[in-house]
Formats: sequence, C-alpha cells, structure tokens
Amino acid sequence: GPGALVVVGSLNVDSTSYVAAFPEPGETVTAHGFVVALGGKGSNQAVAAHVAGADVELVARVGDDASGDFALAALGRFGLPVDAIERVTDAPTGVAQITVADTGENTVIVTPGANAELTPAVVDAERDRLASARLVLTQGELPVATIERLAEVASGEGARFVLNLAPPVALSPATLAVCDPLVVNEHEARAVGIGADVPAGASLETWSPLAADAAGRLARSIVITLGAAGAVAASADGTYAVPAPRVDAVDSTGAGDGFTGTLAAYLAEGRTLDEAVRIAVAAGSLAVQARGTVDSYAPRAAVLAAAGLTE
Ligand code: RIB
Ligand code: NA
Repeated sequence: GPGALVVVGSLNVDSTSYVAAFPEPGETVTAHGFVVALGGKGSNQAVAAHVAGADVELVARVGDDASGDFALAALGRFGLPVDAIERVTDAPTGVAQITVADTGENTVIVTPGANAELTPAVVDAERDRLASARLVLTQGELPVATIERLAEVASGEGARFVLNLAPPVALSPATLAVCDPLVVNEHEARAVGIGADVPAGASLETWSPLAADAAGRLARSIVITLGAAGAVAASADGTYAVPAPRVDAVDSTGAGDGFTGTLAAYLAEGRTLDEAVRIAVAAGSLAVQARGTVDSYAPRAAVLAAAGLTE
C-alpha cells in the first residue's frame, strides 16, 4: 500500500568535481569534469529503494530556492512522490561539495541548510504516515533528537526501523536497540564500539563474529558493509558473510546509499536479512561501476541477476 517504506532523510544538491588527484591544503587543481545532481543520503536511499521496486515516500526539507526546484524536479523524474517534502523559507537547500579522484575515492563536505529543520516535531506531525509504513528508514545526517524520536515513534507504531549510521553520531542505547538492522561501515562500526581492535581491510571472517555478538545486544540486527570485500550481517536467525564480486570502481559516491536503500526495499517486501544483504551487495557493486549517485543505481532485474537470484 502507499508508503510501505517511509524514508525520513536528508536531501542535498551535490556539486561534484572529478579530479586526477585530490588537492593538498593550499593547492589548486583543475578538474576534468563537473556535475550538479540530486544527493543527500536520505534522498539517495529513497531513490535506490524506489528503483528496487518499493513503494517509497520521502519526508524531507528543502529551501525556497533554485536548488529546491532542481531537487523536486529530479525526484519527480524518478517517479517519487514529493508531497512529504516541505519548503522552508529561512534556510537554503542542503548542499554537498564532492571531489572524486581517478582512483574512485571521494571527499564530501555537507552543509545541512534546510535539513536541520527536520526536527522531532516533524516526526510527531508525520505519525500517521509512519504508523502505516511497514519499514521506516533514516540516516545519521538528521539532527540526533530527530533520529531518536523517529526510532521511538516508528517502532512504537509497529514499523520495522532501519538506521544507516552515516555519518556516525552518538545515539542512546534505546535508539540503537530498536534498529533492525543497524547498517554501518567499518568506521561507523567502531563508533558504536564494534571492532575497535580490528585493523583496516580485515576480512569478512574477522567481522562476522563481531556482527554476531552485536546482534541482539546492541541492536536487533546489524549489517556491516566492508566496501570491496562485501558485507556481514547478523540477527537472531543467523550470521551471514556476503563477499562482493571483484569490480573496477569508477565512483563510489552514493554506493553505500544504493546498498542501504536496496536492503530496505527487499526487507520491506518480506525477504530474509540474508537474501536482502545478498541483493544489496550486488546493487552496491553495480553502483560503484557507474558515475554519480542516484544515476548509478541499476534496475531491479539487473540487480537480481547480479545477485544470482530471481523474482
Ligand atoms: O552518501 C553520499 C551522499 O552524502 C551525497 O549525495 C551527499 O549529498 C552526502 O549527503
Ligand atoms: Na556511482
């Protein structure tokens, strides 16, 4: 039904410069490409979930400015409803300044602007929408008080609550406890006390028991994304390690959002955590092979085929 998956999330307009190598402090470099595109972890994840076939509503805030027009038009082209996106008059649309190097790595600076107006009062005002959702998804880009209120309201109303703790922010144990799953990369995992002693680039086999230990203790279930290595996941039903295929990364910007949005979409349609993570790993690895964020998310059939699964 309408709003089976509700994303309460950040929305930015991304200005991305493509460079051979990142500038050092004080250095000026010339880019070989520049793109302005729809971004923001919340919006990216909403688009990924929509591309994956979910019935998605995005609750977000933009400014009353040209970037706001741009963002709403871009979401409309993807076919996402924009009626839960309000324009605020006292802050500009959020922006991200992104640099992508030829290695495929990126740097991102976010200025939240209107995103800061996604307050706990917005969560209360959206209670009916949240109550009718099967799954509610959010990210670390919202104000902490908003994430905490959302976790309480969504889980209280019986929706499955999924949190991508990107970027990492300090949340109460009660908020983490209702996450099903909590989705983190290895940096974010360390921020919640998982894998403090694990060296960078450790294997899925190293992370699996740490995920198993966190599931049911820190959060209801957990997914740890490990970039090119793949992902591990754990819930009361078991522990899963999903290797990623070896690919040539072109642009990793938004690949984590592609992973999380896809994961949420397949969980919302009733797939197991194991299967949803397999499909999300395939979606993430397809996303890194194409430029951009939302424009790099592959269609449902291509993702399922890459995951070796069928409808
Ligand atoms: O995860 C990528 C996203 O992070 C970008 O689209 C940028 O807007 C920032 O929110
Ligand atoms: Na990409």
